[in-house]
Amino acid sequence: MVLETLDVTDSAGIGALALKYRGKPVDLLLLNAAQGPTPQTAVLSLAKIDFTTAGDSFAVNAIGPMQVTQAFYDSVAASGRKLIVAISSDSGSLEASVKKPILYNYKASKAALNMYMHTLSFETPRKGITLVMLHPGTVKTNPGLMRIPGALETPDAVGRIVALIDKLTPADNGRFMDNRGETMPW
Ligand SMILES: NC(=O)c1ccc[n+]([C@@H]2O[C@H](COP(=O)([O-])OP(=O)(O)OC[C@H]3O[C@@H](n4cnc5c(N)ncnc54)[C@H](OP(=O)(O)O)[C@@H]3O)[C@@H](O)[C@H]2O)c1
Repeated sequence: MVLETLDVTDSAGIGALALKYRGKPVDLLLLNAAQGPTPQTAVLSLAKIDFTTAGDSFAVNAIGPMQVTQAFYDSVAASGRKLIVAISSDSGSLEASVKKPILYNYKASKAALNMYMHTLSFETPRKGITLVMLHPGTVKTNPGLMRIPGALETPDAVGRIVALIDKLTPADNGRFMDNRGETMPW
């Protein structure tokens, strides 16, 4: 196993890493990085939206994954599985996100990620690439999420996602799905 570090907002770093792996196949490009909500940013109202961090949300949650995808696209196309999985969120769904005036920056940036990937999904078939957007479920990755009833333990969520990714086929290209493979509403 090889581990690399990458800040998905660092264009030069993305380019350098992609160059290092140029010509090497990447079976699965899993875009997981995100700037999630914090207790300070989770509960908001219009008057309290912090626009000084809004740009960071979009940079990490939408633009970064798209730029990483652009940089590694040929490596994915050169692989056997040819998979791109963008870890999205129900927060990026108009229908499924919590119907409250909270998480403004997070919700908007995940919706932007979905639209970027949705648009790309009309191009991926040309290279035989399968692209999906995946809502992992509510997972206990921080103390706030641990208090949410029904939240999954991280190993459980990861197990579901790995099993789901194993079963992806080209027919799934462009889908937004949950961790059981059920279609999520946009
Ligand atoms: N947990 C949930 O209930 C839930 C629900 C729906 C969707 N999701 C999505 O699932 C994914 C994982 O969520 P999580 O709960 O594990 O989130 P998390 O605990 O906040 O972890 C986010 C990860 O993203 C990395 N990251 C942040 N900024 C980055 C950057 N600029 N460049 C590269 N990496 C960066 C962080 O690295 P560092 O630790 O080094 O900062 C961390 O490993 C995210 O896309 C999230 O939106 C989670």
